Amino acid sequence: NPERRPLIAGNWKMFHGGNSGLALAADVVSIAKRVPHADLVISPPYTILGAVSLDCQGKKVAVAAQNLHAKDKGAFTGEISGPMLVESGCTWVIIGHSERRQLFGETDATVAEKTAAALQYGLLPIVCVGETLAEREAGNTLAVVKRQVEAFLDILAGSDKAAAIAYEPVWAIGTGKNAGPAEAEEVHAAIRAWLVEKSPALAQRTRVLYGGSVKPDNAKALLGCPNVDGALIGGASLDAASFGAIAEAA
Ligand code: G3P
Repeated sequence: NPERRPLIAGNWKMFHGGNSGLALAADVVSIAKRVPHADLVISPPYTILGAVSLDCQGKKVAVAAQNLHAKDKGAFTGEISGPMLVESGCTWVIIGHSERRQLFGETDATVAEKTAAALQYGLLPIVCVGETLAEREAGNTLAVVKRQVEAFLDILAGSDKAAAIAYEPVWAIGTGKNAGPAEAEEVHAAIRAWLVEKSPALAQRTRVLYGGSVKPDNAKALLGCPNVDGALIGGASLDAASFGAIAEAA
């Protein structure tokens, strides 16, 4: 299914906000030339979004912001809106990353609001979900992820845009401890089933990415799972060689 081509996204978090980021983006442009089979997205800090977007124009590398404010403008010191991101050349935006949920008070409700705003302003959302270690150990993984997905499923279904959902188990983020392919596939298959139940067309166009300690040496196994349509990569996206190796594994 061409709508579910592998999507390999690098979330740079609060790293590489200056010249080193411009250099890394240039490296990703070269990677894109050798991996025509995958869609590449990079998500640099706000400070270089405009510059990176210009450098990536027409080069098969799309640019994502790491967050947005749901309003289009206003007296919200320090915030950035969807229309501003579009103006900086972004086409994607990461929403509801677990760091935003855990450290910046984002809830299922704010995630839903931001998802609707992204689609309204013409950005493709990568909406993040995932359970904590305590939730997994209590046997609540699927219940938690279902609750998180249900908060924005109608919003995705109400648009014809090809959004993405990223399943990132919180215990696997930045810990070097990835979900095993079988653990990842179980949750991905469940997400896919909820998408199909909502609307087959929605399931057809929505890619479900895995995130959490994706590295060159585990990428093939994770990306080989039938319901894993790509990866959202943190640490390994900060290094062009690793990001390139993961993209090649897709
Ligand atoms: O959004 C990607 C991320 O949270 C995963 O980070 O460093 O475990 O690949 P990392």
